[in-house]
Amino acid sequence: MNTDYHNIIVNQDTSTCIISINREKKLNALNRDTLDELHHAIIDALKEESIRGIILTGVGEKAFVAGADIAEFPAFDSIAGKELSLEGQSKVFDVIHQAGKPIIAAINGFALGGGLELALACHVRVAAQNAQLGLPEVSLGLIPGYGGTQRLTQLVGRGHALEIILTGDRIDAEKALSIGLVNYVVPLSELLIKSKNLLSKISKNSPRAVSAAIRAVNASQTTEGYEVEMNEFANLFGTEEFKEGVHAFLEKRKPNF
Ligand code: COA
Repeated sequence: MNTDYHNIIVNQDTSTCIISINREKKLNALNRDTLDELHHAIIDALKEESIRGIILTGVGEKAFVAGADIAEFPAFDSIAGKELSLEGQSKVFDVIHQAGKPIIAAINGFALGGGLELALACHVRVAAQNAQLGLPEVSLGLIPGYGGTQRLTQLVGRGHALEIILTGDRIDAEKALSIGLVNYVVPLSELLIKSKNLLSKISKNSPRAVSAAIRAVNASQTTEGYEVEMNEFANLFGTEEFKEGVHAFLEKRKPNF
């Protein structure tokens, strides 16, 4: 796995790949180079057989990601804006959303704008007690452009999503937990431990079934959701992992996936 990056740090800890955004002085804001590196690191981790899950986090104690890099914005027009959104979505945010391995956002501080959108694209979100989450784009005369209006609405419902997007206010970790925006809130010192524990629990299950479940859940946002679930369910009956899972149960032993 390539670990030669400038804006991110990639570590493998047994079967978990930890990708940390490493622009601490800029509160880990996502500039183009960082998005590019994230794209390559995530694709590599998804291909690497020994990796069963990914944790995304930020370097330092202050920020997960404080948004897209606003310093890159001033020269933008509508065409450049569309390109930015398209490129980011296709290279990073959609890749995470559709990944066949679980990806957990370990939110260690500010998760604002593109930072919250990055966490929203992940499959599970664990927040540290100091996390502050928000979509402040309207304060810049913009709206979220990396899927935030869609994924936030799907996750917390229209009412909470509109309040967060229209006010641009930041909410704290406990409030985020209460509306289902994050799955857990833990002390900062336990953030990676909790995220790794979740992945190790998932890793005990059939990798093929885990991928199929992600695809089926993702399809719930489309009109074909039930059909995708049916097909994914049916296909799993043809896998070795299915045979192992069922035999293990019947033989009263743990499955070996
Ligand atoms: N893009 C580019 N640079 C950013 C950034 C972003 N999204 N967020 C923070 N930074 C930079 C700051 O410009 C500053 O750089 P400097 O030291 O070279 O001046 C550095 O990170 C530290 O930020 P600072 O604002 O001094 O920290 P703070 O603790 O006072 O405030 C925030 C923290 C998160 C409240 C504030 O940085 C902020 O509002 N950031 C922008 C959030 C945002 O609107 N995101 C959505 C973008 S679409």
